[in-house]
Amino acid sequence: MFFQKGTQTLEIDMTRIPNHIAIIMDGNGRWAKKRSLPRKAGHKAGAEALERIIDDCRALGVKHLTVYAFSTENWKRSQEEVDAIMDLLRQYLKTYFRRFMKDNVKMNVIGEISRLDGDIQEQIREIEKLSKDKDGLFVHIALNYGGRDELCRAVQKLAVQIEKGALDSETITEDTIESFLDTAGTPDPELVIRTSGEERISNFLLWQIAYSEFYFTDTLWPDFNRQSLEEAIYSYQNRERRFGGR
Ligand code: FPP
Repeated sequence: MFFQKGTQTLEIDMTRIPNHIAIIMDGNGRWAKKRSLPRKAGHKAGAEALERIIDDCRALGVKHLTVYAFSTENWKRSQEEVDAIMDLLRQYLKTYFRRFMKDNVKMNVIGEISRLDGDIQEQIREIEKLSKDKDGLFVHIALNYGGRDELCRAVQKLAVQIEKGALDSETITEDTIESFLDTAGTPDPELVIRTSGEERISNFLLWQIAYSEFYFTDTLWPDFNRQSLEEAIYSYQNRERRFGGR
């Protein structure tokens, strides 16, 4: 498939689309500030960008999309901003995700959802249940997610199994640890994208990104579109992945 970047025509190899793309959707606040709008308007535009990117991932044949919607650190923001993001999430769970189910999209949440409001937890459980047999794009939403928190919770679960005698510490392998993570059973992302010019991982998928390729762009998340996604995939396809070998 060809796409245009400025005056260049570039080609994406449709047989080598990354199976799993993970995105740190950054820059909503700056997008709003540039327009003299409140931060919550930036998050709303960010939610709309996510809706479009889900469609684009489907069209390109991506199998897994993981997005960082709310981190364990985001609670430190003003109550007003946290409430605005939670309200958007409510709307999202009620409308967009239902539409996506018609498109064969499966959804789950990674992160510690017990800190979220009860009605949101219930909606999440319902959507996970309703979409569980879909086999198109699998969208993983990271909510109250932190990579270190996920590892702590995994170690706690693992320790319980050892205490019960169901697991022998000497037999623990990387696969054992993987099976206790929120992402158990999901292949690791080949490509991690972060928007808005920041070049940090911010506690996102720490275990899973061991061999991922990173793509950083100055584009603010609400402006990230199909063209931006294709540029990221093009960049990924033109790298040599060695996994530590030669
Ligand atoms: C980072 O931008 C974005 C967030 C912390 C929230 C991400 C939320 C969305 C994309 C929309 C909501 C999606 C759902 C599913 C509810 P920032 O606020 O840190 O931007 P800044 O760095 O420019 O201030």
